[in-house]
Amino acid sequence: MTKLRLGVNIDHVATIRNARGGAFPDPVRAAKLAAMAGADGITAHLREDRRHISDADVERLTHELDLPLNLEMAATPEMLAIALRHRPHAACIVPEKREERTTEGGIDTVGLRGRLGPMVRALRENGTRVSLFVEPDRRHLDAAKALGAPVVELHTGAYCDSHGGQRQRHLETIREAAAYGAELGLEVHAGHGLSYETVAPIATIPQIRELNIGHFLIGEAIFVGLQEAIRRMRQLMDEARGGAQL
Ligand code: PXP
Repeated sequence: MTKLRLGVNIDHVATIRNARGGAFPDPVRAAKLAAMAGADGITAHLREDRRHISDADVERLTHELDLPLNLEMAATPEMLAIALRHRPHAACIVPEKREERTTEGGIDTVGLRGRLGPMVRALRENGTRVSLFVEPDRRHLDAAKALGAPVVELHTGAYCDSHGGQRQRHLETIREAAAYGAELGLEVHAGHGLSYETVAPIATIPQIRELNIGHFLIGEAIFVGLQEAIRRMRQLMDEARGGAQL
């Protein structure tokens, strides 16, 4: 099976920093440590309300990091202008509501196609690989393909938040969506809410090429350190993948 990449989301290092309004802990330092621990990329979400990652963080991440940066962004003119200016390796377009605690669902690729089409085109023409964060649902995958996005990230939140038979059903839905997405020629990623407990079944899905994981890793870092938490996650992903890496 192809190697499964790990994108480490560092948003919540910035959440802790912003709780006191100073400079510590520094998310860019976390990104550099993540690189040493085996992360393949760094993900950061510049939210409209700037509750964690700041504009200055994005600036530093684009200049100081050796790893590819995946910028998560809402489908707004402000965020498009920022992404065009910074030219991150990748941009993942996500839905955003000010009142939500986290990204609660996938983006409505069908209803928002009029807005998403020109954004996807502008980012691609500027050299950024575009991904759309979607629910594991054929309709949204068809729409993502029609919009010209080369990548989709499947939302794993419902799978992670459920238990027993219900979790199994969500897993099957993700498995089916990953196979369908790959059939359409899309590169398939996944993420949201993943932990040591939930990562392995997702990592066994052969069409999934990248996982983006943040909150759990930053929380676990309090107890074992960031590098140890990332190494353990990497190990679980690699074991689930069967060790063989192309
Ligand atoms: N992928 C996307 C598109 C996200 O919006 C998020 C959360 O910012 C994640 C992955 C990571 O989710 P978590 O922090 O729950 O691991």
